[in-house]
Parts: sequence; structure tokens; C-alpha cells
Amino acid sequence: MTLSPSAGERDPIHPLPSRERAGRGGSRFQVPQLYDQIGAGYNAHRRPDLRIGAAILDALGPACSVVNVGAGAGSYEPADRAVVAVEPSTAMIRQRPSGRAPVVQASATALPFRDGAFDAALAVLTVHHWPDRAQGLVELRRVARDRVVILTWDPESTGFWLVEDYFPALAMDRAIFPPLEELRRILGPIEAHPLPIPHDCVDGFLGAYWRRPHAYLDPGVRGAISTFSKIGEVEAGVARLRQDLEDGTWARRHGHLSTRSALDLGYRLIVAMSPSP
Ligand SMILES: C[S@@+](CC[C@H](N)C(=O)[O-])C[C@H]1O[C@@H](n2cnc3c(N)ncnc32)[C@H](O)[C@@H]1O
Repeated sequence: MTLSPSAGERDPIHPLPSRERAGRGGSRFQVPQLYDQIGAGYNAHRRPDLRIGAAILDALGPACSVVNVGAGAGSYEPADRAVVAVEPSTAMIRQRPSGRAPVVQASATALPFRDGAFDAALAVLTVHHWPDRAQGLVELRRVARDRVVILTWDPESTGFWLVEDYFPALAMDRAIFPPLEELRRILGPIEAHPLPIPHDCVDGFLGAYWRRPHAYLDPGVRGAISTFSKIGEVEAGVARLRQDLEDGTWARRHGHLSTRSALDLGYRLIVAMSPSP
């Protein structure tokens, strides 16, 4: 269900009427959305991973109402809480299975909700896409009474073989993901919990296939990873990876990973509690 921005004017969990949103730049989501171009087949390779879902649930703690910002197709939305999703891309909204939480088409940078409207604000692998990261973080803090929970990647973490050996242009992620210091500055004290990625992770983000290198040869897998869509030419890196897999070079360099069941690649689950009143 897509909520109309004017629905439930007096209900704090429902969007503010459009005249109130306009003052906050509420129509910003109408700018062209990357995910309207690349998001169409998202669900084929980006399914919620149960282990990551459990960590997110744990981080949400006792929060009964949750706004899921940059919600995409609805991965990781807890079924046992009152959830409202916020997502600017029509292509992503169309992929939300029926029965999922109601969705408001809006940008993180102008959330159409009253201050403290939800117990928790959740943002999963989305902050790096926002046109004004700081403004979006301020908005999360504003609408969350109890806590902000963010799944992100620490741009100061050590390198990943995929980037270092084959696609150095993917290192552009270091410039677009928020440094933990920025999260601290805007959200106040944070806990940053390492989120080791299981070797058989079913949510196909960039680091998901760290132990399954052949996966990155698949254009469908790469197409579900936004940074691949931004770096342009990938054929040279793909050819190098294919060659290294065939002649044993990859196994010589990285074969030791086969003994690991999960790996810390720099993904972090951030919990920022609201200051006590
Ligand atoms: C990698 S997807 C993650 C989707 C979902 N959270 C998940 O875990 O599957 C990033 C999402 O951020 C959304 N996004 C991009 N710009 C945004 C903005 N300004 N405000 C909120 N979400 C945005 C995209 O449309 C996309 O759905």
C-alpha cells in the first residue's frame, strides 16, 4: 500500500500533509532516481539474509514503531512491529510484496513525519545514496524517539580483494559512505557493531560473495550492486578475474578464505540512542 502524503493528518505515524512537506523540500524525491534505472531486477539477487535480519531486529530492541527509510523492496522490515516504509524510487516500490508495510514515496532528506513520530528509524544500506547525507541523518534523528539504527559500511575499513585486485574503481565507495565520525557528529554517541558477512549470504550486496568469486562474473549479480553501475567499464576486471579463477591465481591468493564461515568486510550496524529528555 502506498500512503498518500495527505493521509492521516492527525496521526503521528502517517505522513504530514503536502503543504507541510513542501517547506522541508518534500518534493525532492521527484528528481530522477538511480534505482529507477538499476532497481528493476533487485529482488532476484537482493533477498533479506536471515542472519543479518536477526542482527537488525536485535539492534531495534523494544521499538514498537519503526520507519524504514530507503526501504527499497522491504527487506529487513520486522513483521511484528508497526512499520512505515519511505522510498523515493517507483521501481523499488513496485517490487514490494503485497502485505508489506505501507510506503510513502519520499526522500530521507525531507521525511514527512512529525518529530519523534516513531520509536526507531531504520536505514539499511541506503545512507550512501542520499543527495544530502547530513540532512538525511538529521531527519532520522528528528523522527526517532528512542533510537536510530543504520546498516552501513565503514569507509575506513581495510580493503576487499574484489576491489583491490580487479575493480579499483569500486573504491569510490570510500567517498560516498559516511565515516563513523560523521555519524557521531550528527547522531551523538553511537555503538558500531561489526557485522561479519556469512559466506553464503543471500543478500547480494558488494561484499556478499567474498567466498564465491565466480558470482562476480555474472552480469546479473553485478547489476544488483549499485557501485558497479556507476563505474562504467568493467570488462577488463571481469576478464582478469575469470583468468585468475581458471589458472589458480585467485585460489593461491585467497584460497585461505575457504576455511572462514563469515568475514568482517567493514559492514557496521550502528545504534544511536536518543538523548534522554
Ligand atoms: C541498496 S538499496 C537498499 C534497499 C533496502 N534498504 C534493502 O536493504 O534492501 C538503496 C535504497 O536507497 C534508496 N534511496 C536512494 N536515494 C534515497 C533518498 N534520497 N532517500 C531515501 N532512500 C533513497 C534507493 O532508491 C534504494 O531503494
